[in-house]
Amino acid sequence: MPEEEQTLFLKLYGRAAEVLASAPGRINIIGEHTDYNNGYVLPAAIHLRNHFLASRRTDHEVHVWAKNFSETDVFSLEELQPLPDKRWANYIRGIFWALVEEGAALGGVDGLVWGDVPIEAGLSSSAALEVSVIKGVTELFGLSMEPEKLAKLAQKAEHEFGGVKCGLMDQFIAVFGQENSALFLDCETLAFDLIPLNLDKAGLEILVCDTRVKRELASSEYNRRREESAAALIVLGKRGIRTYKEATLDLLDEAKAVLDDVSFRRARHVISENQRVKDSAEALRVDDFILLGRLLFQSHESLRDDYEVSCPELDLVYETGKEFKECLGARLVGAGFGGSAIALVTEAKAEEFKRMVTARAEERGFLRPEFYDISVGRGAASERLSPI
Ligand code: GLA
Repeated sequence: MPEEEQTLFLKLYGRAAEVLASAPGRINIIGEHTDYNNGYVLPAAIHLRNHFLASRRTDHEVHVWAKNFSETDVFSLEELQPLPDKRWANYIRGIFWALVEEGAALGGVDGLVWGDVPIEAGLSSSAALEVSVIKGVTELFGLSMEPEKLAKLAQKAEHEFGGVKCGLMDQFIAVFGQENSALFLDCETLAFDLIPLNLDKAGLEILVCDTRVKRELASSEYNRRREESAAALIVLGKRGIRTYKEATLDLLDEAKAVLDDVSFRRARHVISENQRVKDSAEALRVDDFILLGRLLFQSHESLRDDYEVSCPELDLVYETGKEFKECLGARLVGAGFGGSAIALVTEAKAEEFKRMVTARAEERGFLRPEFYDISVGRGAASERLSPI
């Protein structure tokens, strides 16, 4: 039990919290920019989480204190608008808005949020926040909602209040993640399979290298990539395919003459990445980490050259990984344009790898990267609290 936060809640609102909910951040092992293209992804929940304590109010106001920012937000359920600044608050407002739109019978709420998922590091702190809040609010008002619905409403909140037309991966893994498992998801049908991640047995770990490059243009560039890949699919659709999952690189080559260069490369990334996700899932099933690592490198190359979402700082992690013998694979993770890369390294040499990346970043005049040793955590959870 988070005693410190429960005491803080009592101090803020004069009574105890009724509900505690939490949701994890994520890494994506592979399958980048494929989710909104109805393709495959292979994320895993991480041990870093966002938490939400809440109680019901008798009016229609929502009061939230964000411990990490020492900031508060107050709004009415009857007037739900995004704020021009305060990004964290918009994710919460978005969740209430999505629930109200859904016709959920809600009342006012007092809440407290805090977490340890690094912000803007490409580890999906926003989905962790959204999902912890929706999980807590539905628990608080006894709303029964399928887990899939929770993920979809959290995505809707991000679209409308976060300004990013994201896919479903981050919210889905925040809801469905399981300890020591990666989740192979078909983003079209939402059928999924949990695959054990036996990294420990192999003496390996997934290291997250946060370049600390803030992704200023991320939302506009992200939305643009989404449009570009959709436009390329329309052209390919004339050759009888419905989704990228049905396309092959051969079919793409046949269509080369009718696609402009950008469309061709965006499509090549999505088609090849879908295949890499399937191959990676197979590799994980037989603990073939050498193959997995190779696929990670290839994914980075494709994201850098074809999808154009990398940056020099992310490339540096990839390049160091390519030279470092005990690094099996490395690639940017999440939307790109900054944020983090992951590296699959032997536990024994992880520190050396970190030192090498740091030294090279310094040589190039980059920001000093931050590293996180990730363990795979569980998905969202909520519980009713007994009074303290
Ligand atoms: C962000 C989005 C996801 C996904 C990734 C790229 O994390 O929220 O939906 O599109 O970028 O794979």
